[in-house]
This record gives sequence, C-alpha cells and structure tokens, in this order.
Amino acid sequence: MIPTKDKELLDQEKQLAAQAALQWVRDGMLVGLGTGSTAAHFIRLLGEVVKAGKLRIQATATSVASETLARQLGIPLVEPHRGLRFDLTVDGADELDPQLNLIKGGGGALLREKVLATASDYMLVIADSSKAVAQLGQFPLPLEVVSFALPWVLDAVADLGGNPVVRMDKNDPNKYAHSDQGNLLVDCHFNHLPNPTELARQLETIPGLVEHGLFLGLARAALVVRGGQAQVLRPGSAPQPATDFTELP
Ligand code: A5P
Repeated sequence: MIPTKDKELLDQEKQLAAQAALQWVRDGMLVGLGTGSTAAHFIRLLGEVVKAGKLRIQATATSVASETLARQLGIPLVEPHRGLRFDLTVDGADELDPQLNLIKGGGGALLREKVLATASDYMLVIADSSKAVAQLGQFPLPLEVVSFALPWVLDAVADLGGNPVVRMDKNDPNKYAHSDQGNLLVDCHFNHLPNPTELARQLETIPGLVEHGLFLGLARAALVVRGGQAQVLRPGSAPQPATDFTELP
C-alpha cells in the first residue's frame, strides 16, 4: 500500500506529465486516449483546451471509462473504422524500461490500449517517477483471457513461471473482474522479466489468451516526471527536459 503523502506526490507527477503531453498535440490530429489515472488527467486537460477552442481534434478512447470522460468533456469521438489511424496516442503505463518497453493493463484496458497503440503513428507514454524501472517484471503482467480457456491458460502461464492470479472485481471480491470486452483478467507474477520478447512470443502461442500487457517497441517517447520536472525519454537516449523538446509527431 502506497502511503497517502507519496500517493499525492505521485498524482502531482501524473498531472505534470499529462500537462507536458499537451505539447505533442497539434490542431487537426486524430488522438488515441489512454486509460488510467494519468491518462484521465490528460483527457481532462485536453478537454479544457478543446472547450476553449484552442485545438480541434478527434479522438478514440481505449476504454469505456475514458470514452465516458471524453464525451462529458465535449471531446469529439470517432468510432473504429477501416483505415483509421491515429497521429498520436497518449497513455499511461504500469512499468517502462530504458528501451521504452512497457507493462500495461493494470486498469484492465490492455487489449484496446494495444489496438490503439498499434494503430498510431506515435505512442507517447505519460508516467510518474515510480513507473520507470531498470527491468520489467515487478509489476504483475496482466493478461486478457477468454473465460472458457481460463484453466488451460493458467496451466500454461504457470509452466512459464508466471504464478497467475485471476483478478477479482473491486466491488465484489467473490466475483471475477471483467474487461470491457467481457473477458477475464489474469495477473502473472514473474517478478523479473529478463527476456520480454521471448515471453511475449510464448504467450502469443496460448489459445484463449486474447492479449498480454507487454508493449514492446510501441512507445516512441515517454514523459516521466522526476523531482517536479517532466523529462522526455526515448529508447536508448539520455533524458531531456520536456521544455527543450521540439520533435513533432
Ligand atoms: C490501464 O489498463 C493501464 O494500462 C494503465 O495505463 C496503467 O495501469 C497506468 O495507470 P495509472 O496511470 O493509473 O498509473
């Protein structure tokens, strides 16, 4: 359990990262909206800018929760359709390593998050300082699983050393949690992931495992707040202050 003071500090960092991400948004863009508390800050800030008439954008959200928030704020929404690509997707992460490989899905939205990240020309991750790690794996790796296949998926993941735990509903601990697609969520406690590429390959061979939360090679940049300053991280590059960053998506 994170102490309240630390939680407040981390929330301030999330807000700063979300604020810095507005620099990436240009008039006319199609934007993918992420899920989670950091992405919610971004959606709220984007909503203010759109309401003020400073930016005309259209967006698609990675979850019902983010879509509801965006709709309440008056952000124009686009339904999925053939040929739809996003100029930019802004999303949080549960962990990110120096190559910007990610673990995502703590909020259960990993499937739609990966769909939009893959359909985007530029994925920007926004995160507080607790998310940046030297190696992925402390955070349990989320999976989205078809209910019928659950026993065999659990066996297969246990064979890979993942110690799988089926996620329970936050409001009813006797019921399983479900994704927006109505599938189950499984959290895999690997503790460390020395070879995420190989693990992703193995997971992708398991029938009934709809998606896993490893996002490898998808993020182009990350905004991580440390010591009150937003820094831009790119795969394998030294961090830069977000204020000096001029690259456009
Ligand atoms: C949602 O399914 C996740 O991938 C989130 O992006 C991730 O859990 C980060 O959440 P916070 O922004 O709430 O930390």
